[in-house]
Amino acid sequence: MTTSSADERILSIDIGGSRIKATVLDTEGKMLKEYDRLDTPKPATPANVISVICELVKDFGVYTKVSVGFPGYVRNGVVKTAPNLGTESWSGFDLSKELGALLKQPVRVVNDADMQGLGIASGKGLEMVITLGTGFGTALLMNGNLLPHFEIAHHPVSKDREYDEYIGNKALTEAGVEKWNKRIRKVIAILKTVYNYDHLYISGGNAKKLDFKVDDDTTVATNMDGIKGGAKLWSNNNLYNI
Ligand code: BGC
Repeated sequence: MTTSSADERILSIDIGGSRIKATVLDTEGKMLKEYDRLDTPKPATPANVISVICELVKDFGVYTKVSVGFPGYVRNGVVKTAPNLGTESWSGFDLSKELGALLKQPVRVVNDADMQGLGIASGKGLEMVITLGTGFGTALLMNGNLLPHFEIAHHPVSKDREYDEYIGNKALTEAGVEKWNKRIRKVIAILKTVYNYDHLYISGGNAKKLDFKVDDDTTVATNMDGIKGGAKLWSNNNLYNI
């Protein structure tokens, strides 16, 4: 039996370093279910994360497809790195296959910032989406299509720190909101010069800690806006690494 697009219900899951969020979307990205979340387990091994996902979605009813945003580098559904969950336990883990077997529906997995990018970007020109959370997520899109994923989070930004260490959640706690905001301003200036984006979107749980007015070419978004990217994971056919 084929499912018409009106019957499609896409379970969209955003695995974060601190929380795992989920909802069910229609093919246009409209939420059919309240957005829900649970804490990311510690240690965040594949088995523990999968069991939290199963707990989180157990009352979500029917869904026909599953989209997952994962906080690391993913190729063809297989996790390569998971800097904030533990690369050792995740490297080589076929998340799309394992979750597919458990949830009994087809699963697509991409980097978490890439999924947010699909949910947030307008589809016009070169757009960059960054997420401020446990780690620093980045996505680049041209006319709504994802460009190859780069782990900018792990590029050095100061003498001895990568972006994750410079503006990630731990840095925010250690440096304080004021200093962290100064760093964010510096990072935005770097991104503007390096990527020449037409528009920048700032999402992630810590985006609400920004204490300055962003430029006209920048929009502040939320994780809830980003999770809608789960719908585009199934309608956008220009996904190079699915
Ligand atoms: C990871 C990225 C991820 C970001 C946000 C970084 O540590 O390397 O892949 O997108 O955190 O979760």
